[in-house]
Amino acid sequence: MGDLKISRTELHSDAELILKIKELQKEKDAIILAHYYQVPEIQELADFVGDSLQLSQQAADTKAKIIVFAGVHFMAETAKILSPDKKVLLPDMNAGCSLADSCPPEAFRGFINAHPGHKVISYINCSAAVKTMSDVICTSSNAKMIVDSFPRDEKLIFAPDKNLGAYINNITGRNMVLWDGSCHVHNQLSDEKVIQLKIENPDAKLIAHPECRGPILALADFIGSTAALLEFTKKDHNKRYIVATEGGIIHQMKKYSPEKEFIVVPADETCSCNDCPYMKMNTVQKLYECLKNETPEITLEPHVIDKSRRPILRMLEISRAANLIK
Ligand code: 13P
Ligand code: SF4
Repeated sequence: MGDLKISRTELHSDAELILKIKELQKEKDAIILAHYYQVPEIQELADFVGDSLQLSQQAADTKAKIIVFAGVHFMAETAKILSPDKKVLLPDMNAGCSLADSCPPEAFRGFINAHPGHKVISYINCSAAVKTMSDVICTSSNAKMIVDSFPRDEKLIFAPDKNLGAYINNITGRNMVLWDGSCHVHNQLSDEKVIQLKIENPDAKLIAHPECRGPILALADFIGSTAALLEFTKKDHNKRYIVATEGGIIHQMKKYSPEKEFIVVPADETCSCNDCPYMKMNTVQKLYECLKNETPEITLEPHVIDKSRRPILRMLEISRAANLIK
């Protein structure tokens, strides 16, 4: 009989849970921020859906008492750094990020020491500890702008994503030293399959996230953050797109352009899907439990918050000055 024990909340349907989440939100003054890679149900119930830059701006600006972050750990951590007085909740504490994990702080400290005189630009997909060692943070929507904000002769380290770093080196003519990290989801998208899809669908435009490997980016008609890819499909006049990024974004693409067709790029033979397993750890059920019990909560040492906030604020300032955000 022990195996048949089911908690009462598991008996609720998603629709019931969503109603309960809305009630709890009002009662507790909570905002739900969701990334574009979340499952459609979570994107639909969230107060705001966006890319990493937009989500950090929302986290910095919100007046709510509680932020429920439907995303991955580094995103919720960034929200806590920007809003340290608020309670920041992540529905599943195991929702990490392979790219952030590819840059262990101690090894990164050694890397910085091995490159004296270099300024450090870190992609937001990194731990708070790595952020404390950085001069400025960037996201995929402002990486070029952030790199351009440094004098041309400044020696730069770019971490942790080697694919994004190589792409920015390519388009800026810089020679930044790259940390050898990558996202296992984007790094596994197969260029052979992209070529095959392009041959089979000559009328479809290839759009890609800059975390993809160079051979895919070289073939792309448009490269951008999740928000930029979505914006491109809204405004562009083409009817069909091959989409080289995590599949969650397709929900918004179809929503805004129901008449268009979106073809997802599969990964290589080692993986059958383009889902980010970390992003997909969040479920409506976990979101409900998390808001109800106000746990798991993101906590950080005050000195880590202080040191990691500076490079993030610098990124937000540069982005604001360029009208990328308000
Ligand atoms: P965006 O900032 O483009 O949303 O990217 C976040 C991310 O984790 C991509 O894998
Ligand atoms: Fe991290 Fe990649 Fe998942 Fe984005 S898609 S959260 S970079 S593991």
